[in-house]
Amino acid sequence: MKRRHFLSTIPLAMALPRSARAAAADISVFVNEPFGTISPFVHGHFVEHLGGVIYDGIWVGENSKIPNIGGVRKALVDAMQPLGSTVMRWPGGCFADSYDWRDGIGPREKRPRKPNFWMQNGILRNVPMDHVARNDSNAFGTNEFLRFCRLIDAAPYLAVNMRSLPAQVFNDWIDYCNAPAGANTMADQRVANGDRDPFNVRFWGVGNESWGCGGEMTAGEYSTEYRKFTAWTPRYGNPLSFIAAGPNGGDFRWTRDFFTRMVDKSPGMLNRVWGWALHYYCGTTGKTSVDFTDVDAYDHFQRADRMERLITDHWQLMGEFDREHRVKLVVDEWGTWHPDSTAVAPHHLFGSVQTMRDALIAGLTLDTFHRHADKVAMANVAQLVNCIQTLFLAHEDKFCVTPTWHVFAMYRQHQNGKALRASFNAPRVGYTKEDKEVSAPRLAGSASLAENTLTVTATNLSLTEALPAVVQLHGGSAKEVRGQVLSASDISAHNSFAHPEAVKPAPLAVEIAGTTLKLTLPPMSVVKIEARMG
Ligand code: AHR
Repeated sequence: MKRRHFLSTIPLAMALPRSARAAAADISVFVNEPFGTISPFVHGHFVEHLGGVIYDGIWVGENSKIPNIGGVRKALVDAMQPLGSTVMRWPGGCFADSYDWRDGIGPREKRPRKPNFWMQNGILRNVPMDHVARNDSNAFGTNEFLRFCRLIDAAPYLAVNMRSLPAQVFNDWIDYCNAPAGANTMADQRVANGDRDPFNVRFWGVGNESWGCGGEMTAGEYSTEYRKFTAWTPRYGNPLSFIAAGPNGGDFRWTRDFFTRMVDKSPGMLNRVWGWALHYYCGTTGKTSVDFTDVDAYDHFQRADRMERLITDHWQLMGEFDREHRVKLVVDEWGTWHPDSTAVAPHHLFGSVQTMRDALIAGLTLDTFHRHADKVAMANVAQLVNCIQTLFLAHEDKFCVTPTWHVFAMYRQHQNGKALRASFNAPRVGYTKEDKEVSAPRLAGSASLAENTLTVTATNLSLTEALPAVVQLHGGSAKEVRGQVLSASDISAHNSFAHPEAVKPAPLAVEIAGTTLKLTLPPMSVVKIEARMG
């Protein structure tokens, strides 16, 4: 698809203020100043019974001609390996608050077919009505999901239906997943369904978007339900970590009201909250996921960059009630969200082709999470396959990774590293919009140290200018260094079934001079530096 370069239609001097011309970056990394550990869970994922995520994306069935492992698409399992061992959230999203886990166990041929939540809500109105997406066959249920997690070495994170089922059904789900074989009837059922060993599920999301699709509650009502659901839950030795349905973006009232009501009941009640789930989608700009101007892209980067303030502002507010900050932030839905006109199959609701623009936003966002490693304990990009900011496109026997997948693969090395204090300075990108001069971030990054390896990642968000950078290492020097870059000559570049490697990383030259590293970040690039420290 031909791109229109908006900036080329206006004089450069008008598009870029003086300070932004011939920009250079000044990066400092303080090797001896760790402030937390980057949890692998901030590179987490999310899969929902929605469009082409589960059926077509993950589950192809055991009898499929598509290579599979126990019904799960093998290409997907293989492509998860380079991403490390993280966390997977299921079955929603909004779907979770309509889901009865008891429908998805036992012999598949006996499982009920139920209208999918998204279908019921008329959201699939443009989808052919006879299509598989209309109903959920329940072929992919608890055992299938938890086996999928084992295959890809991910910690499962189950989202509990709080809107339409009672707390007892939640307790039974815990028993089904975690009780030792023989302990009770729930455990017996699990064994009969083929899984003798308990799954020991630790993470439980108690409701989803309870301010909206999860029950349209007030924060006060939600806190009452939350306390009821998390009271006296079955435990089998391992701790359970409950995640409460937090705010939609900047809804600070929801955060304040929930924390107030919990603490009013008793200050100890916050011990029941391991994570406070923030949802933030930076949406879309332009016509479609592949048809947008440079100005659209810069507007989009600004929106994505809001994540930083959302984290710090909610964190500050939470601290008013929880001075020791025992409750951590869990950003369990985030991503770009484009119109689904570029989806690879008509029933892939919220699906779209992902471009280099999405990869830049992935880099920007993951670096933000790393810079707040002391606050953000988990984050789940929405969604793994065929949906929103997807890492994979899959349809029938066709499969490819997206530019966003490459960013996750490049960033893997940060997992479990000590987050280091670092600064990334470069002038913002100035641009003109509707006759006004505005600006977007040009550079973002993060640094971590694991054993003797320093990892620095950074994103150059200028679509037109390379960014020469000097990285000053404070408190250490590098012996050996390697660079990698993900970039493209066009911001709408993307991978497709026909061209699965159109966007992929390449080596990047990095020079070592004592405690200084020098490199140039190409326009629209995500880079990684790995340095073996002396
Ligand atoms: O990720 C798609 C939907 O977005 C989820 O189901 C819901 O939680 C959110 O509004």
